[in-house]
Amino acid sequence: MAERYDVIVIGAGPAGYIAAVRAAQLGFKVACVEKWKNPKGELALGGTCLNVGCIPSKALLASSEQYENATSHLDAHGISVEGVKVDVAKMIARKDGIVTKMTKGIEFLFRKNKITWLKGHGKLAGATDGGFYRVEVSGESEADVNEAKNVIIATGSKARHLPDVEVDNVLVCDNEGALAFDEVPKRLGVIGAGVIGLELGSVWRRLGAQVTVLEAMPTFLAACDEAVSKECWKVFTKQGLKIEMGVKIGEVKRSKKGVSVAYTDADGKTHELGVDRLIVSVGRMPNTDGLGLDSVGLSLDARGFIEVDGQCRTRLPGVYAIGDVVRGPMLAHKGEDEGVMVAELIAGQKAHIDYNCIPWVIYTSPEIAWVGKTEQQLKAEGRKYKSGQFPFAVNGRALGTGESDGFVKVLADSDTDEILGVHIVSSAASDLIAEAVVAMEFKASSEDIGRICHAHPSLSEAMREAALAVEKRALNM
Ligand code: NAI
Repeated sequence: MAERYDVIVIGAGPAGYIAAVRAAQLGFKVACVEKWKNPKGELALGGTCLNVGCIPSKALLASSEQYENATSHLDAHGISVEGVKVDVAKMIARKDGIVTKMTKGIEFLFRKNKITWLKGHGKLAGATDGGFYRVEVSGESEADVNEAKNVIIATGSKARHLPDVEVDNVLVCDNEGALAFDEVPKRLGVIGAGVIGLELGSVWRRLGAQVTVLEAMPTFLAACDEAVSKECWKVFTKQGLKIEMGVKIGEVKRSKKGVSVAYTDADGKTHELGVDRLIVSVGRMPNTDGLGLDSVGLSLDARGFIEVDGQCRTRLPGVYAIGDVVRGPMLAHKGEDEGVMVAELIAGQKAHIDYNCIPWVIYTSPEIAWVGKTEQQLKAEGRKYKSGQFPFAVNGRALGTGESDGFVKVLADSDTDEILGVHIVSSAASDLIAEAVVAMEFKASSEDIGRICHAHPSLSEAMREAALAVEKRALNM
């Protein structure tokens, strides 16, 4: 007899494990299916984010920043250090230790919340007459069938590869291989100047690699506010990232010496870039293979994502899909919030997400973060807006830490003063953006932020000053 659950979640990345935890908190009998194996061959929870995404990349970003501080920035503080060296193996081992700690942490959460981990590949296998869905789990042993009233599909995404460019994760890498180099490559090529390309390109540049990023689009960071992309272009190229826009990638060849990438530049000239390693970071694709969607009559949208409504319901009652496998930004926190929302909907609560209030963060240095609309979007919508901007170059705390690149920009409605978007370039943008998210969730005006006391000296003062600048009354500029 198949084991019966109230909720089965397929996938234990940030979307899936959070959905499982919230459903368990609400009193449901929950199981979560996960098949991920780490490089040691052990089954691990956490999905891409914890194993080969957000968490390990942030560990390496921090290590490489420490190195760059020691080699390039300490001198300005009157501190001289000699003989600074990188032990890549130790750095990678530190990162792996953090990953293990985090993934084991989810095992603890599962035990604490009495969530059953079904180890293996989960697949929908039709429905019963009694309104249960069958979920088949095939692991090391024989496939085992479980049943649930509600199924949440949270199978995430995988790296998109280029046709005819084989990724071996040694010479030609996607995010997985690029987090596990055994030495600093002298010359590193990156295809795609998106989030992963810029973050991982920055890691290896700081550690000494000569990094060339090749991007197909003519505009740098096209999704960002134009003021942000302009500032970041200036800062990143000054730091030494070589970025070529508007290229067309040709043949990618491997040799004993490394990899050569043929490409045509924006003026139509052909080039051959020789590198020791190549990262391909041209986006990600939803994981929908082998899910048995047909067995229950679920379809994909035109872009290959599982079709859902604004609250992550599929067309089948009791079947939901969340995270990277559905429309919307591929951001861990977006998936987490969808997980909470769906668990609460199953419990009959009135949950919803304001997708306009989901913050975006790119962990370069300085970091980039934003929430709401960009100035280009507001122009395209014909919305009347006011804008206020304040640079960290005149913020005492930023000068003290030596991280004074960047600014805060606040966009507010011309008539109501409601905040419509906030854009930050700063060493602490990922944390500073939280204030803007709270403000927008509560429909605050720029005047509200301007009237709130902000600690001095702190980077957060720039948020207040940018809000005051909307009415042209910044105090320190
Ligand atoms: P992305 O969509 O951010 O960037 C891919 C870039 O590659 C784009 O600029 C695109 O124009 C370019 N591109 C596509 N095809 C190309 C080609 N043939 N030649 C040259 N350039 C080409 O995707 P990325 O960086 O791979 O990241 C994948 C996903 O993971 C993103 O959706 C992102 O949201 C998520 N992610 C989020 C992070 C964060 O929140 N900090 C960190 C890492 C990933």
